[in-house]
Amino acid sequence: MCGIVGYIGNREVSGVLVDGLKRLEYRGYDSCGVAIIDEGRPKVIRSVGRIGELEEKIRQTNPTDGSVKCGIGHTRWATHGRPSETNSHPHRDCTGRFYVAHNGIIENYLYLKHRLMGEGHAFATETDTEVLPHLIESYYAGDLEEAVRRALADVEGVYGIVVVSSEGDGPKIVAARNGPPLVVGMGSGENFVASDVPALLPYTRNVVFLQDGEMAVVSSDSVQVRNSHGECMCRPAETISWTAEMAEKEGYAHFMLKEIHEQPRAVRDTLRGRIGANDTVTLSPELHNPEILAGVERLQIVGMGTSLHAAQVGKFLIESLARVPVEIDNASEFRYRDPIIAPRSLLIGITQSGETADTLAAMKEAREKGAYLLSICNVVGSQAARQSDAVLYTHAGPEIGVASTKAFTTQLTALYLLALELAQLRGTMPEYEIQRHVRQLRDVPDQIQKILDQDQAIAELGAGFSQYSDFLYLARGINYPIAMEGALKLKEISYIHAEGYAAGEMKHGPIALIDSEMPVVVLAPQDAVYRKTMGNVEEVKVRDGIVIAVATEGDREISQKADYTFYIPDADPLVNPILSTIPLQLFAYYIASLRGCDVDKPRNLAKSVTVE
Ligand code: F6R
Repeated sequence: MCGIVGYIGNREVSGVLVDGLKRLEYRGYDSCGVAIIDEGRPKVIRSVGRIGELEEKIRQTNPTDGSVKCGIGHTRWATHGRPSETNSHPHRDCTGRFYVAHNGIIENYLYLKHRLMGEGHAFATETDTEVLPHLIESYYAGDLEEAVRRALADVEGVYGIVVVSSEGDGPKIVAARNGPPLVVGMGSGENFVASDVPALLPYTRNVVFLQDGEMAVVSSDSVQVRNSHGECMCRPAETISWTAEMAEKEGYAHFMLKEIHEQPRAVRDTLRGRIGANDTVTLSPELHNPEILAGVERLQIVGMGTSLHAAQVGKFLIESLARVPVEIDNASEFRYRDPIIAPRSLLIGITQSGETADTLAAMKEAREKGAYLLSICNVVGSQAARQSDAVLYTHAGPEIGVASTKAFTTQLTALYLLALELAQLRGTMPEYEIQRHVRQLRDVPDQIQKILDQDQAIAELGAGFSQYSDFLYLARGINYPIAMEGALKLKEISYIHAEGYAAGEMKHGPIALIDSEMPVVVLAPQDAVYRKTMGNVEEVKVRDGIVIAVATEGDREISQKADYTFYIPDADPLVNPILSTIPLQLFAYYIASLRGCDVDKPRNLAKSVTVE
């Protein structure tokens, strides 16, 4: 997730670009930059940090004095290359004639980079994007659009790009899309490009959304959209009726709801580039030292809150697939118990932000005791990433809602991939079994989408439960951490008291609470412990408790016992935690929003807990 803007017209171009970037800052905010072509002269200004710092730099440089002005801008959410001024977009070719801002991932960039270096191109950054201006440079023969088309034909991956050049017979922006969104805004004597509508709303409401494979050539008085064969597409402009605030949330009432709905895309991005053509896992290059992982005798995972729940699911995944013993610790407890770090041990820190003080401290403690450190992290270049030997990025994109949603399901996906990679390295599973798991993972985004398509049914279910004051969440095995995660989601955003328990623990205390005022959410997918969980459902029912079940599609038995049943697609038991999370997120969301809670910013909570 990054934000892109482009402008061509008579306004003060840097002002329009900075204004657009500020409106897109929610898409990424570790560095930013603009490239402006002023009467054929390129000027590039970039900065690490927030847009305000870029604005100040621009003020000092006063970059334009020509008449028709053209420029592109970018706010970055780092994926390849740490956040730094050098790695900030727009990126340029060797000659300084071509500038590209990019949102997405060029999966074959290493191959292209080596090829281009062999042809004499000099690279300045660690980014995947930089291959694009060099490719355009190598194909340019007087026609920018053609050079961009040929460059993109070499690229594997996803992109929304804007390109400007000091070459050619007049200023123009070439924009192209394959995956990440791009929208062209039509003005009078001026035109705009952006990754998202909020950047355009102060200037125009007439827009054309580019489709995958399309390219737009934008000048101050025309917009031509062509498909991948170069054929002209006559697409009438649409009129946007959203407010700027609605547009940032793409029409969703809250960031949390938007982020819940982003999960098919987010999980796809976690998987992207990590699965080989023969359905095996290709994480080794990211693990830097796969031999260490192949030889580890013990593994420890630390995290806090939702990330701790991911760790608990990770234990099941890694132990069952790679057969290595895994110990889980709440990071805040870890270092105060003088933990034993055995030789040849690996510690994994799971943290969305990469800035959680307790998780960082636990990782430091383990490092001092000699562990190899791996972090599973969403924010590139964060503290956790910097202090680790290797990082597995989740690529969920910025998570704005304080309650973690897409960060969690992408952590589970990354852990699943890691467990499979460990199984491959350690030879604990035959290749055909690994391939079966990989194929299952490929199906997960569509399965999540199937659940999201039932959003309204969960909203109605939530409406019936918004006035209760206590909830119990029960599950067994790999779904037990999901019961705790479901309870955490409900309590943190709706302020309703909720507890997650291992279903087998119920008879050891919590059963005393059950009566007709106590809804019990039971996760009961059809797996090895299904019968045992059904026993718990009976126990709740005979005490007049209300059972809301999350069950496997086609399970008629449970719908006769539970008061309400929500079905998830029939999947492998190891996939179920990802799927059963989704209805629990939506359930908590709808209850909290009906109660009028500030869903995106629950009281007393912060997105990154940077103090102990
Ligand atoms: C709950 C939530 C928190 C975080 C926790 C750790 O919805 O978001 O429990 O999971 O504060 O944060 P990270 O993952 O950034 O280390």
